Amino acid sequence: MLSSTRELLETAQRNIYAIGAFNVYNLEGVKAVIGAAEAEQSPAMLQLHPSALVYGGVPLVALCLEAARSSIMPISVHLDHSTSADDIRMALDAGITSIMADGSHLPYEQNMTFTRKMTEWAHEKGAIVEAEIGRISGTEDGLSIAEKEAKMTDPDQAVEFIKATNVDSLAVTIGNVHGEYKSEPRLDFVRLEKIRHLVKVPLVLHGASGLPEFMISRSIELGVCKFNVNTEVRQAYLQTLKEGLCSSSLKDLLDSMGATIESMQSVIVEKLQLFGSSGKAHLHQSPYAEMLAKRT
Ligand code: 13P
Repeated sequence: MLSSTRELLETAQRNIYAIGAFNVYNLEGVKAVIGAAEAEQSPAMLQLHPSALVYGGVPLVALCLEAARSSIMPISVHLDHSTSADDIRMALDAGITSIMADGSHLPYEQNMTFTRKMTEWAHEKGAIVEAEIGRISGTEDGLSIAEKEAKMTDPDQAVEFIKATNVDSLAVTIGNVHGEYKSEPRLDFVRLEKIRHLVKVPLVLHGASGLPEFMISRSIELGVCKFNVNTEVRQAYLQTLKEGLCSSSLKDLLDSMGATIESMQSVIVEKLQLFGSSGKAHLHQSPYAEMLAKRT
């Protein structure tokens, strides 16, 4: 069922687990996420990277929404990291259930103005907004400790920002990076605890590919209820494609598409288990929960 992102996050936050939000680019990605959610009886989020939105436009949003509607699992559809008001407008008009208004590249005041406006638009459409304070970037090798810390979320600024913009969830920067961690990941849990203490909205952690199990569970204990995953799923896809293309047994395009779905799905299943959302679909508002309630 197409769920609201608000419902997914708030139920996860209340029950201390996290929702996996997986970046998808095409039908194979969508099938992998929904297949994994169904196999694990788990909620999940289909998440569109802005470049995927530029590539697929409204038809890609419609594909995600329709796939969510057709599933018995609680699934929502989210626009990730959008810096463009036009893209946000397009996705909201197409019926997306949440967006990330990413003004983190802007000076603080401008970030606030941009995010406030996008939040007004989203709320008019019944969607919710994730924002980022601090700046999550790619692999941070070569930066000094002070430079890394300067990019992290300032807990007091987070409070002020949420109040001024009315956003619904907050992506924190506590040492997490997008892409591969080139050295041992190090998350600033003291900072996360301070943020959790001051901020009541659901917290989001980007860059979940490559984080070890204990960091995932500690993050959940400290209030993270959404993890973004892209790199590991994309790597599984590309690896399977490469192997398929080199294999003489590959005869049919559908076989290759099926193999990519399978490989992405097994990564996603692992993540759903790690995030603690496996077996939690019944806690969410969905036809599945209603069906189970009727049975008992
Ligand atoms: P990874 O690519 O590191 O999994 O991060 C994904 C992400 O945070 C998307 O917003």
